[in-house]
Amino acid sequence: MDQGVCWMDGRIQPLKEATVPVLDHGLLYGDGVFEGIRFYFGRPFMLRAHLDRLRRSARAIALDLPWDHAALSDIVARVIEAFGAPEGYIRLIVTRGEGPLGIDPSSCRRPRLIVIAGRLEMVGHAARAEGVRLVTAATRRLPPDGLDPRIKSLNYLNHILARLEANRAGADEAVLLNAQGRVAEGTADNLFIARDGRLLTPPVIDGALPGITRALILRLAGEQGIPTEELSLAPYDLHTADECFLSGTGAELVPVREIDGRALPACPGPLYRRCAEAFTQHIERHCREEPA
Ligand SMILES: Cc1ncc(COP(=O)(O)O)c(C=O)c1O
Repeated sequence: MDQGVCWMDGRIQPLKEATVPVLDHGLLYGDGVFEGIRFYFGRPFMLRAHLDRLRRSARAIALDLPWDHAALSDIVARVIEAFGAPEGYIRLIVTRGEGPLGIDPSSCRRPRLIVIAGRLEMVGHAARAEGVRLVTAATRRLPPDGLDPRIKSLNYLNHILARLEANRAGADEAVLLNAQGRVAEGTADNLFIARDGRLLTPPVIDGALPGITRALILRLAGEQGIPTEELSLAPYDLHTADECFLSGTGAELVPVREIDGRALPACPGPLYRRCAEAFTQHIERHCREEPA
């Protein structure tokens, strides 16, 4: 990612040189929201959906965005151009801005927008081909009455604690359960399982971020005639699944070969393959063939 570029306060600079003032409340308190957006063939993928979610996240934390969709799209396009490669990853961050040391957000006068273009490889080629190993984390997803999972905020600490558990267990990724023990999602991705030819994914109410890739996969699978359902899942359902995969902007689609030490019967499984092919075709159609 250090090869990238960064837009901030109206100018684009090399990512290595970009710095944020220490009194920014995004740094002091994680007070802000963000989006991760991929670009392919020089064009941002699902940009509108990401900007819509960013705006909803911002509204949910009472952060007024002074930039409309057109202004944000323009900055994203400029950053992609400055990055210079046709494929990469955009991190769009809005913080509450600078204020005094106290927590009170009303002391911050102006939000800060940061738009980074760089590379993000969450999963190596080998892991993507062979599948990754998951562990169920003891760290739980925050309850919605603490922090609604639909807000894509700068607070990822419980995900990081879960990811540390995965690292310690020698696994690639952790699965977070909610306070009731139902499956929520991965640390930075949504989760799908296949059972008896059906594709199942936890509902947002169980603590999943309403992932843009997740929604697209549900749609593309439906178009392929694969039955899909948003269904509350327990660890038992993961352990007895026919196949499992992760979805996300950073991760794209990643097949899973093992969960909590239990090997899955198929990896990459047939439903994963069909979804991955439809996903790749969709990206080509929308970024390569259609005008921006
Ligand atoms: C916690 C979490 N869940 C799921 C996802 C996947 O969402 P999307 O497909 O919109 O990138 C992300 C992506 O950043 C995430 O951070």
